[in-house]
Amino acid sequence: MRRLADQAVSLARSEIRVLFDRAATRPDTIRLEVGEPSFPTPEHIVAGAHAAARAGWTGYGPNGGLDSLRELLSAKVEEVDGYAAHPDRIVVTPGGMNALFSTYFALLNPGDEVLLPTPGFPNMDGMVSLLGGRPVFYHLEASDGFLPDPERLQALITDRTTMLFVNTPSNPTGSVFPAGLMRELVELCNRHDLWLLSDEVYDELVLDETAHHTAAARYDEADRVISVYSFSKVYAMTGWRVGYAVAPPPVADLLRKLQEPQLSCPSTISQKAAEAALLGPREPIRAMLDAYRRRRAAAIRTATEAGLELVAPAGTLYMLVEVDTHGRSMFQFALDLLEDQGVSVAPGSVFGPGGDGYVRISLAADRDRITEGLRRLAVACRERTLVGA
Ligand SMILES: Cc1ncc(COP(=O)(O)O)c(C=O)c1O
Repeated sequence: MRRLADQAVSLARSEIRVLFDRAATRPDTIRLEVGEPSFPTPEHIVAGAHAAARAGWTGYGPNGGLDSLRELLSAKVEEVDGYAAHPDRIVVTPGGMNALFSTYFALLNPGDEVLLPTPGFPNMDGMVSLLGGRPVFYHLEASDGFLPDPERLQALITDRTTMLFVNTPSNPTGSVFPAGLMRELVELCNRHDLWLLSDEVYDELVLDETAHHTAAARYDEADRVISVYSFSKVYAMTGWRVGYAVAPPPVADLLRKLQEPQLSCPSTISQKAAEAALLGPREPIRAMLDAYRRRRAAAIRTATEAGLELVAPAGTLYMLVEVDTHGRSMFQFALDLLEDQGVSVAPGSVFGPGGDGYVRISLAADRDRITEGLRRLAVACRERTLVGA
């Protein structure tokens, strides 16, 4: 066979996917590794897509998304995220993931350094490397509530640094940036002339009722912030693949242009579903949020009672728990946990070097499964198991 592309071959396969496949072969497994809502897409959204398909919304659309959806998104960003965004700044993409990929595609030149959090959303360093950039990790510490420290960030900036990536509410840490920190981060980017890529796909999943989401773009006076949002988690629409970027006009133009050779346009039917989501009743969305809040409370209580260390997540669908692997690699610990205790979790190693010593559990499972999974995790941390011995 002829040679394959080196960049593509060298991309590491996600360990979460490996665990996912392994867990799927054991039907009784308590699945706490998953990163998607446990709820089906609310009925009015499915009905909206159905009606749109019947009405003929089945063809190609504009590269950057339907005008009607972008108008609605402009209103949503103003109301939920607290800043004005003209529809021309909004580019609809197949999921937040493509908005992130296209943004790196649009802004990175070979060798450009991107500051990425660890523990942080996996895929980011892979994307940056695939596109010729150089990922540089900044460490988030449990003792700081997993919030970035602007001084430590500043120390990592070189003349090759092009971009700072931030994520709030954060996967996997669950931290939610306070407004003052967000302002400082925008100012840091101003001082060093950096792009700020702000992943805010969990903007409406703030679980701690005393916390508030703060959008980076609220403080952006120099057109350097690109914000990324998604319908996946907030509306339980992971499989519909609808996300969007809000970007300064020249960047938004590039993102639209890049859609053409990548995918032509986002799915028209899915965009109509997204419109139904925005126009429909809020109660089903509220009910999902309330369920996540109850699960979070139960998870914190159970983990604490079981003697596990954690930083209570303020948002997202996740919680990081500190574990004692008894000398095993994180991945081996997760495999043994699956084998011995029938519980699957995401090993911290997938979240970069700063994830070592943690596992991520998902709040997207039934409450009883979460609490039972945590109890078994505590057992695995206490005793060295036979398989792992
Ligand atoms: C922080 C973060 N950003 C982006 C995404 C991408 O989500 P999607 O492509 O489904 O919108 C995810 C999904 O898990 C995520 O956790």
